[in-house]
Amino acid sequence: MAEFSLPANSVIKEGKTWPAPEGAKRPKKFIVYRYDPETGDNPRVDTFILDLDDCGPMLLDAVIKIKNEIDPTLTFRRSCREGICGSCAMNIDGRNTLACIKPLDEIEGDVRVYPLPHMKVVKDLVPDLTNFYAQHASVEPWMKNDTPMPPDREQLQSKEDRSLLDGLYECILCACCSTSCPSYWWNSDRYLGPAALLNAHRWILDSRDDATGERLDALEDPFKLYRCHTIMNCTDACPKGLNPAKAIGEIKQLIAKRSS
Ligand code: SF4
Ligand code: SF4
Ligand code: FES
Repeated sequence: MAEFSLPANSVIKEGKTWPAPEGAKRPKKFIVYRYDPETGDNPRVDTFILDLDDCGPMLLDAVIKIKNEIDPTLTFRRSCREGICGSCAMNIDGRNTLACIKPLDEIEGDVRVYPLPHMKVVKDLVPDLTNFYAQHASVEPWMKNDTPMPPDREQLQSKEDRSLLDGLYECILCACCSTSCPSYWWNSDRYLGPAALLNAHRWILDSRDDATGERLDALEDPFKLYRCHTIMNCTDACPKGLNPAKAIGEIKQLIAKRSS
């Protein structure tokens, strides 16, 4: 197994190493970012060695095993365990993805587990998503419709109009895309980022929503929208296979079209 070492100038120091369980047949090294604000210490990375023959198949199984059997202070978010809630997003083996659907056998060599990049860390693998959620709320992700509802049925939508929402409504707000975006890293105070913009597009395209113009007005801003430079990291990162870069491009086109 390859030896792990951090660069000499890294502010993240090597922490504790737990040995492999006795008789481990398939030992695998997990190098895990640790940070506890209550200690005031700098972040560190701890090393845990698990026997893959005695561990579930996904990265989330491994961190749950570490928490249950080795170090109960290891902190991370998870809920659904099936790629639906979006809460277990982490940087695994250098990529942002969902721990619960990341198979361990896809990772060669040691497994590096870090929180989503360029976010404040609450503890260990838990990023502070306060700003991310506020940005999502800022696009007003709900139906705005002043048309009186028909008294005897739902407000209908044609199949064609409904299909426009495919590839948008499936977003689980995991933040893998926004935290992989260099523009978001440097300007997350003013740039809304791919997740919020994809969700904005979902409502812009909804045929039942009456606020399209108002929504486009709100986004026509050099920072909120136009900080996207089409680098495409977001689309590459999305664990649900969505394409935030395309959604952002389409918002730009809609704004350009109405001013031409
Ligand atoms: S396409 Fe835009 S949103 Fe996506 S990573 Fe690039 S700059 Fe960020
Ligand atoms: S677009 Fe994809 S990566 Fe971004 S928040 Fe939604 S599900 Fe996560
Ligand atoms: S635990 Fe819900 S997406 Fe991973």
